[in-house]
Amino acid sequence: MSNPLPPVSSAPLIVVGAAIVNDRGQVLAAQRAEPPALAGCWEFPGGKVEPGESDVSAIVRECREELGVEVELVERLGPDLPLQRDFGVLRVWIARLAEGEPTALEHAALRWLDATELDDVAWLPADAPLIDELRVRLAEW
Ligand code: C5P
Repeated sequence: MSNPLPPVSSAPLIVVGAAIVNDRGQVLAAQRAEPPALAGCWEFPGGKVEPGESDVSAIVRECREELGVEVELVERLGPDLPLQRDFGVLRVWIARLAEGEPTALEHAALRWLDATELDDVAWLPADAPLIDELRVRLAEW
């Protein structure tokens, strides 16, 4: 008898994000272009960790694909946070630019925000709890 349900992956979904901080203590915010429910909201650029990939490699890959830059990771920002639309977690690392200037290859827009500007954009729900800690880190940068 065939099973009507598709195979279910046992691997937990991990979405990674990069809080890229520049030499002026500003962080890069990226505005989503899609899907329609999220378009216009701002996020730390990133995406899903692929099977067999580490979270660190996934961030480096996503920053290449989405922004056209090379990043080096500095340290984690906050704990893993629950994703609302997907079952899984968001894991964000603070990063520095190693090469290139970010370009919105997949996003609607990019903005560099200093510590006083972090509330100027509407962050995705999963990213928003990290903003208070980020404000402290940017002020000390
Ligand atoms: O970018 P991508 O579509 O691969 O992201 C997968 C899911 O993770 C989406 O639902 C998106 O809203 C969420 N996400 C998030 N915060 C980020 C990056 C992605 O909540 N910084």
